[in-house]
Amino acid sequence: MGKHLQLQRLPVVSGHTILHIGDDVRFSGSFAVYSGRFGNRPTLRIGNRVFIGSNVTVTCNQEVVIEDDVLIASNCRISDYDGHPSSLEKRISKGAPDPEDIRPVRIRKGAWIGCGSHIFKGVTIGAGSIVGANSVVTHDVPAYCVVAGSPARVVKTASRFQRGELRDNCIRRGGLNTSGRSEENSNASACS
Ligand SMILES: CC(C)(COP(=O)(O)OP(=O)(O)OC[C@H]1O[C@@H](n2cnc3c(N)ncnc32)[C@H](O)[C@@H]1OP(=O)(O)O)[C@@H](O)C(=O)NCCC(=O)NCCS
Repeated sequence: MGKHLQLQRLPVVSGHTILHIGDDVRFSGSFAVYSGRFGNRPTLRIGNRVFIGSNVTVTCNQEVVIEDDVLIASNCRISDYDGHPSSLEKRISKGAPDPEDIRPVRIRKGAWIGCGSHIFKGVTIGAGSIVGANSVVTHDVPAYCVVAGSPARVVKTASRFQRGELRDNCIRRGGLNTSGRSEENSNASACS
């Protein structure tokens, strides 16, 4: 757990998810994280200076990573598993999901997730990107663009100015390396 955590309500943690929370993280309302009985060490990593709005739910059965400086607006859902198996037999027998039905989610540095959005299993949201309100994100989102809709599609790519603004801001805060590279392909932990 990092320093200066701000909580307006106690989060609901149902299951055995391991939580890593960075510095200066703010939860501005109710927040819940759920994990199923399958999965050994489901892990939710939240980086530094992350803002999480009210009524946000994370379903974590393997790994969900929310990197530094991410904003998640209210009523969003982030899931690395759909909640029930696609197979009818498994749903009825309450069997464990197939391993490929659980896929980690990563929201990269500086992304902004608009209110009411759903981020589905296996998705990576690129650094600095924006997800429009009420979007359903089923595929990876490139860095520095705006996606919207259900399923979410790219509706805009960011200007150089916006990229520079993000980069300078993050460098000032120590979020990106000083070469200016976004560490996009790096698996280095964004979280403390
Ligand atoms: C994503 C967002 C920031 C983009 O704003 P913008 O850069 O001004 O984008 P525009 O309004 O120019 O929209 C670009 C296109 O995407 C479409 N679009 C934008 N947001 C959309 C959404 N949420 N769902 C579907 N389509 C959307 C627009 O209709 C437009 O389509 P067009 O080119 O066919 O007309 C804004 O649309 C949005 O969703 N804001 C809400 C953010 C939020 O949830 N805030 C909560 C407080 S943190």
